[in-house]
Amino acid sequence: MYLTKEEEKMLSGEYGLAIQKAMQLLVAIGDIFEAEYLIDIESAQISGVSYNNIGDAGLEFLEEFSNLNAKVVVKSTLNPCGMDIDRWKEMGISREYYEKQMRIIRAFERMGVEISCTCTPYFVGNIPKQGSHIAWSESSAVVFANSVLNARTNREGGPSALASAIIGKTPYYGLHKDENRLPNFLVKIETDLRTSLDFSLLGYTIGRLIPSSIPYIYGIKHYDIDKLKAISAALATSGGISMFHFKGKIRDKLERLSIDKKELEISKEMLSKNNEPDLICIGCPHCSYDEILYLAKAIKGKKLKKDYGLWIWTSKGVFQRANKYVKIIENAGCKVFRDTCMVVYPINLSGYKHMASNSCKAVSYVASVSGLKTSLIELSDVFSKFFE
Ligand code: F3S
Repeated sequence: MYLTKEEEKMLSGEYGLAIQKAMQLLVAIGDIFEAEYLIDIESAQISGVSYNNIGDAGLEFLEEFSNLNAKVVVKSTLNPCGMDIDRWKEMGISREYYEKQMRIIRAFERMGVEISCTCTPYFVGNIPKQGSHIAWSESSAVVFANSVLNARTNREGGPSALASAIIGKTPYYGLHKDENRLPNFLVKIETDLRTSLDFSLLGYTIGRLIPSSIPYIYGIKHYDIDKLKAISAALATSGGISMFHFKGKIRDKLERLSIDKKELEISKEMLSKNNEPDLICIGCPHCSYDEILYLAKAIKGKKLKKDYGLWIWTSKGVFQRANKYVKIIENAGCKVFRDTCMVVYPINLSGYKHMASNSCKAVSYVASVSGLKTSLIELSDVFSKFFE
């Protein structure tokens, strides 16, 4: 990979060990993917934050790196961590876990990363300009950024996103280049999609059937930002999809695939092996302000039935803005947690046995990383079955 004189100096250690290490990582990635050179980025979004996921080894790496005086040079936000930073005790988190998680948070803070702790950075001010290059690592946010915000990012790992944040650049390859962003499959939708679960099932089904494609999804109606967020998360769950198209001109000669209701039902059955949840989780990806508002309106005046939990996950930015609706939701016996989610928090500490969600990503990951049973559920069923 070609490096400018300045970048050569960074690599040789002239600007210190932190910059040298970050540069070494970017050069290694650039060489693997045969990138021609490095390009400037507008922002970074960094995953690998939960102590539950990265453990002591990750904690030590981040502390060492921050002690080298590493500093980010572009807007950089953080993925969810492994607990609600304020309400960790309610989640069954031990003091030892709390302290280690906080050491991780402080290491990022020392490096200048915003402690946003969310997978929806675009709801809390990390909104890249159309066409801008970015280095984001949360897979659902990567799909959303490429497809809805029209920014350009590869699916980074936590360390490469952090290295890019420190250097302010990323190797120029993959989805940063025009020619790699073209659709290569036409997916025709032959069923009506209404709810977030429908959109999540569509994304999961496309990822299951054509896992490394860039689909042009034709025929989706009645969508909004939250539905596009749902499909983005699911596309990256069952496949390696990092981008989709849903408007604009269709190129000729694309391979074709039709998806009907039956295909969605197959995905639903794959993810719902049991059906008696005691914990409902909403907010994968993290809930938007509108979703909190919608939930508050639906729940207002009702009471969650005894022995059930309804946990809602969002960012602290949205939580603060939607505070009066959060109170309505919590008055009904539900909980609204910030900074974390059902997947990166050790959900087996919740005391519940079976989690249901309207997100295919949540269900698929919780099934694979925890001992809980899992199933999919529509929000309308949540309101009718779990409240009195
Ligand atoms: Fe976000 Fe956690 Fe889902 S990070 S996309 S809520 S698995």
